[in-house]
Amino acid sequence: MLAIIGGSGLGRLSALESTRQVAVSTPYGEPSAPLVFGRLNGRDIVFLARHGENHRLPPHAINYRANLWALHAQGVKNIVAIATVGGIGVDFAASTLALPDQIIDYTWGRASTYFDGESREVKHIDFTQPYCEALRVKLLRAAQRAGEALHNGGTYAATQGPRLESAAEIKRLARDGADMVGMTGMPEATLARELDLGYATLAVVVNAAAGTGASATAIDLPQAESLGRALMARVVKILQEVAVDGD
Ligand code: HPA
Repeated sequence: MLAIIGGSGLGRLSALESTRQVAVSTPYGEPSAPLVFGRLNGRDIVFLARHGENHRLPPHAINYRANLWALHAQGVKNIVAIATVGGIGVDFAASTLALPDQIIDYTWGRASTYFDGESREVKHIDFTQPYCEALRVKLLRAAQRAGEALHNGGTYAATQGPRLESAAEIKRLARDGADMVGMTGMPEATLARELDLGYATLAVVVNAAAGTGASATAIDLPQAESLGRALMARVVKILQEVAVDGD
């Protein structure tokens, strides 16, 4: 079964039909919200609001381990993660939808593994390609069918938040090779890999990163928020198509 994790601007998936909410608990605690099972474009999927109901959880306080564990325990095989980001690279202007193929982790202090030597054995996972290529290809095809442009590739920088970055921090991320910046990409991607789940991020650029373009002196947060909400209509069109062969 396919799971969709919705981020800022996508706390509910109103296109879901015949929904059924299931509150689950895990050995790692409670997920951000009840899982919402339903049909999208005729296919059974499950939706999870990453920030919880009414966006109550900031990125650093999300129980990523419980979220991924809960989905895995329900028989999920693939996860499409929706994430709003700031754009850094020239190809990542506001309103761009992008499918990153690499990630850099700048987060700290988050419970980021199931293999912590306490609950389970120590194990190292390969993370050379952090996103599932098969799922990325499905998303690219889905976007094509939906008639939506989806930029293929790019490096996602995961920052700690909840504050936005300084201009100098964005310059550093750019030097590091980052194309977009968000706060929730890690440890979500890593935990999915530890559980052998296919995982890909559909990134939604809602603002120019700090110190760049329209954000040269400040980021207009209300504008970024409303752009995010508006862009979710395009995201949902892609999700409706990917549900068809998402599994
Ligand atoms: N920085 C970090 N996270 C974000 C941004 C940003 O500029 N925009 C949306 N999420």
